[in-house]
Amino acid sequence: MTSEKVKENDLVFLILDDKRRWLVQVKGGGSFHTHRGIIEFDEIIGKSYGTVIFSKPYETQGYKFYVLKPMPSDYVLHMTRKTQIIYPEDAGMILLYSGIGPGSRVIEAGCGSGALTCILGNYVRPSGHIYSYDIREKSIKNARKNIERAKLENIVSIEYGNIITDNLNLKDIDSVVLDLAEPWLAIEKAMSYLKLSGTMVSFSPTIEQVKKTTFAMKENNFIEISTYELIKRKIQVKKNATRPESRMVGHSGYISFGRKIDDLKNPYRERKPTREEFFDLKDMPLRS
Ligand SMILES: C[S@@+](CC[C@H](N)C(=O)[O-])C[C@H]1O[C@@H](n2cnc3c(N)ncnc32)[C@H](O)[C@@H]1O
Repeated sequence: MTSEKVKENDLVFLILDDKRRWLVQVKGGGSFHTHRGIIEFDEIIGKSYGTVIFSKPYETQGYKFYVLKPMPSDYVLHMTRKTQIIYPEDAGMILLYSGIGPGSRVIEAGCGSGALTCILGNYVRPSGHIYSYDIREKSIKNARKNIERAKLENIVSIEYGNIITDNLNLKDIDSVVLDLAEPWLAIEKAMSYLKLSGTMVSFSPTIEQVKKTTFAMKENNFIEISTYELIKRKIQVKKNATRPESRMVGHSGYISFGRKIDDLKNPYRERKPTREEFFDLKDMPLRS
């Protein structure tokens, strides 16, 4: 296959070095100004991804920039964000453990900055759909902008909606993905939208949220309930000092999963109920 060419309005990943890198939309006649000179878009459009370009004016600047096709992780880490976003590694696990893929119909709440929405939208192409909701107009506006930049407006719809109190009038959904402060309050409604065997996914930064969400899933008869935390370490590779980098993101969040089932009482074998861990929601205060 031949190399893909940069087209008008594409989002390209411009890289100067390890720290200085930008996601920019190339428009004919436009330019991108950096402290290392100016990149003119007409010089990128029509060239192959993987090419290099030198900043203007050449005599005083003339720095080399690499032009790459952005990865889904680049969209996430370099998009405009107004809320805490989901990191690419967590999104990767969400995709692989939820079964979300081409053709999936997914409910997401809240959309926040739309980081996870972009990733989900990218993976359900060409025939799936992401129904994304938020209760903050600012988030909705910002997420819509990011969705447009990622050219996903035909795959993703972002609407005002409260996943805890509203009736969304959707059914046979493959997955419901939650990233909001009180996910446990949304489990019962979320279950009603899911098709049998569908997946419930909840991303939360704190263990208190995980406990409440897990118990809510148990109360609503979900099975295969599990929670994970991913820790990513970048490795510095140097001639005589190859080791993990000193700084890292210590914690992003916990990811909880469950599966919807059409449960029946077993008429053949009596099973003693397992003793449930004692919990009292009142004693699990959360930051409000
Ligand atoms: C942490 S952000 C989500 C970030 C998003 N996953 C991303 O990757 O950009 C949480 C969002 O949930 C929204 N939210 C909170 N409660 C909600 C509810 N009941 N229904 C819908 N959205 C809600 C908030 O307004 C906020 O924008």
